[in-house]
Amino acid sequence: SSLYAVFGHPVGHSLSPRIHATFGRQTGIALRYEAIDATPEEFPRALDAFATAGGAGANVTLPHKQAAYALCATVTERARRAGAVNTLARSAEGWHGDNTDGAGLVRDLTERHRFDLRQRRTLLIGAGGAARGVAPSLLDAGVGELYIVNRTPERADALADILGQPARVHARYLSDLPALGSFDLLLNATSAARGGSLPPLPMSLLAPRCTAVDLSYGEAAIPFLAWARANGAQQVVDGLGMLVEQAAESFALWHGVRPLTDEVYEELHARHA
Ligand code: ATR
Repeated sequence: SSLYAVFGHPVGHSLSPRIHATFGRQTGIALRYEAIDATPEEFPRALDAFATAGGAGANVTLPHKQAAYALCATVTERARRAGAVNTLARSAEGWHGDNTDGAGLVRDLTERHRFDLRQRRTLLIGAGGAARGVAPSLLDAGVGELYIVNRTPERADALADILGQPARVHARYLSDLPALGSFDLLLNATSAARGGSLPPLPMSLLAPRCTAVDLSYGEAAIPFLAWARANGAQQVVDGLGMLVEQAAESFALWHGVRPLTDEVYEELHARHA
């Protein structure tokens, strides 16, 4: 059976090995899928060693998505627009990189949560690898104006630039938030909660009947989603569905079969919500 892995740091908590094992059983495809912990310094060599050991494909999670992009021989258009990669497939030339995060998020929101993204005034908080992964897909899915704020404003500017739609995409300072009006869709793509603190967010950001999404799940999603719920968000969504959907997209890329996702989502949701 062929060899797959997820690279991250830390990676011990990753649900990806379980998700891919479930997909393998469901589709009758034999595979091995491991979690490999590598620091940023170790990551390039660990990835080389994995290729030498016969690794056919890999997922890449925090904090390696931008580093992985730089190590690819070829990338898909959506990975290029993100400047970040979450899926690697071994090819004759080396690693081929894709980014399935955005497609996973859009599929989770539109199909699982029946949320219509079109023309939604959208606020993206964060401009790191996670934000870069989803921003192009949100635009392609038809959101209205997209505002991007980030603790380090230069990264919000850089993301807005790479997206290339200046009439629609606006980088702003966190200190501008009270003046930005309200949003139909708010996404937290920062890793702030992992360090225990969110940037201060005024409740004026929440439009009536808005939806709040945190790209993380479990404990890390609680502060932002609790803030949104307490201040009137109609719907709050964590990143578990996105995780399952991006995994299904990766699985389809590697194995040519798209697995069904509801069963594994329900199972994980029962444990990690
Ligand atoms: P990821 O792949 O999760 O996006 P990343 O590229 O390290 O990881 O980006 C982390 C994001 O969380 C960035 O937007 C980061 O802001 P900076 O660009 O200013 O570093 C944001 N972030 C992390 N900790 C934060 C905190 N305590 N307050 C606000 N933003 C934070």
